[in-house]
Amino acid sequence: MTRVIFIDQLDVASAALGTGQVVALPTETVYGLAARAEDETAVRAIFALKRRPMDNPLIVHAAHTEMAFGLADAVPDFARELARTFWPGPLSLVVDSAVDWPWVQAGHTTLALRVPSPRWLRGLIADVGPLAAPSANRSGRPSPTTAAHVLSDLDGEVPLVVDGGPCQEGLESTVVDCTGPAPRVLRPGPITAEQIAGVLGEVGNIAEETGVGHGVSPGTRHRHYQPQARVRVVDDLAALTPEPATLYIGPAEAAFPHGMPPESQRTWGSVQDLAARLYAWFREADALGMRAVVIQAVPPTGLGAAVMNRLDKAAEG
Ligand code: TXA
Ligand code: MG
Repeated sequence: MTRVIFIDQLDVASAALGTGQVVALPTETVYGLAARAEDETAVRAIFALKRRPMDNPLIVHAAHTEMAFGLADAVPDFARELARTFWPGPLSLVVDSAVDWPWVQAGHTTLALRVPSPRWLRGLIADVGPLAAPSANRSGRPSPTTAAHVLSDLDGEVPLVVDGGPCQEGLESTVVDCTGPAPRVLRPGPITAEQIAGVLGEVGNIAEETGVGHGVSPGTRHRHYQPQARVRVVDDLAALTPEPATLYIGPAEAAFPHGMPPESQRTWGSVQDLAARLYAWFREADALGMRAVVIQAVPPTGLGAAVMNRLDKAAEG
């Protein structure tokens, strides 16, 4: 049985985590499947629940920068600068680890760290200690952005879900490797390459050149973000002939093929709006029994880089 609670019942979540249970909870990006990072048995239960490949390390969530970097071996100045600017927020920093948690690190000597935005979540972490948490989807599925999405993948398997409403960002955090001489973006996300370059100047520009799409994060090798429906990314929706059992997603009504029924259309108002709603639309397409999702591409700059990264992966094989 899965119990659903709200963020006014955090003592329940705190007790569950303290006794080694896995708890699904919202962050500003997507819902995570959390356990105390120190608790080997509990963290291994996350991998089993998700059916996550064992070679894919987890992000550790801390209450504040001091807690985060307390787990790191040597933190370069540029990583401290990124933390100062973007934490709490949707940015994960990969650093050399001071702890030996093979169940979290999955064979790596590094650790991915982030301080999430929601104040209540930081309070919970201050109470129970650092939390290891991947996205709360079954491996390969789109990340959940509501409690209902978590239940559709894990109902009856995860003991507790904290329902904090829909996630604000809707896409997973930006992952930046800070173990080299300059930052490298391993996974584009809500904190953009342009924002990073803006803060770090010269050093940040190196991140842009070698960054987006070229990094190798262990998780990027695996199948990802895919609904059951086949995803196709096109430059111009309006040029298509409408097909049955297909959900068309674009920037404005004018962008859709002529004669398409309104129930087959979903529109976004901005790239940020698209990011926040994308995974919900993927899941809705499956719930409606759609065979395909056809979505119009966005320019791959700013947050658009993260959106296109997820769309490209969703459209793979
Ligand atoms: O927004 C997010 O990051 C969400 C919320 C719950 O915080 N979490 C999330 O976790 O998306 P997950 O496990 O679904 O994705 C984590 C990504 C994976 O691609 C993983 O390979 C990478 O971060 N990662 C974790 N630890 C790493 C490390 N030590 N070195 C390189 N990449 C790492
Ligand atoms: Mg994930």
